Amino acid sequence: ATIQAFRHALLTWYDQEGRDLPWRHDHDPYHVWVSEIMLQQTQVNTVIPYYQRFMAAFPTVTALARASEPDLLKAWQGLGYYSRARNLQRAARQIVDDYHEEWPRTAASLQDLSGIGPYTASAIASIAFGQVVPAVDGNAFRVFARLLKIDADIAQPKTRQLFTEIIQPIVDPQRPGDFNQAIMDLGSSYMTAQKSDPAHSPVRAFDASWRTGTVDQYP
Ligand code: ADE
Repeated sequence: ATIQAFRHALLTWYDQEGRDLPWRHDHDPYHVWVSEIMLQQTQVNTVIPYYQRFMAAFPTVTALARASEPDLLKAWQGLGYYSRARNLQRAARQIVDDYHEEWPRTAASLQDLSGIGPYTASAIASIAFGQVVPAVDGNAFRVFARLLKIDADIAQPKTRQLFTEIIQPIVDPQRPGDFNQAIMDLGSSYMTAQKSDPAHSPVRAFDASWRTGTVDQYP
């Protein structure tokens, strides 16, 4: 019952207050994927205009697969970490040549694509394909560490697995992609690393560290 109430509080808030971002206008895996790669090392507000220009230049996975290297790097200029752009094109060619544009639909199989690790695979699988998996990034670590008072060293590789197992049964089976994106929005609003406001968060009733006055002990 608590889990259902948590999902309801989270998703009601997300429906009203979730950010309107260009890659959230549909569930096209190409849109989700490009946005997630850009967001890996770059802030949302910076990514938005890059994402829009990139989609204007390469509207489909086929267009990206066929892009010339100078055009590709020009579209990426300013985002840095050019290996991300090269991996993006490598994966686009895999999808076109090896998969005949039929995307792999699970987090496990998406990781066969160049540049797609466990987080990005789970984000695409949940948002684009409705797979019920948690997308465990820094936001998810912070939000669930606080809500559930999980003492785990986030520098440890095992910790991702631990969080994945803990969050898995909490993910809303009807709306896994929205659940994951709501956690991202929560992590960048009421539960940021720098300035957080747990007293007003939409899920404060479920926040064990706020209840016990120990928010400061979590990342
Ligand atoms: N950070 C990483 N992925 C994101 C997404 N889909 N929406 C907002 N912030 C994000």
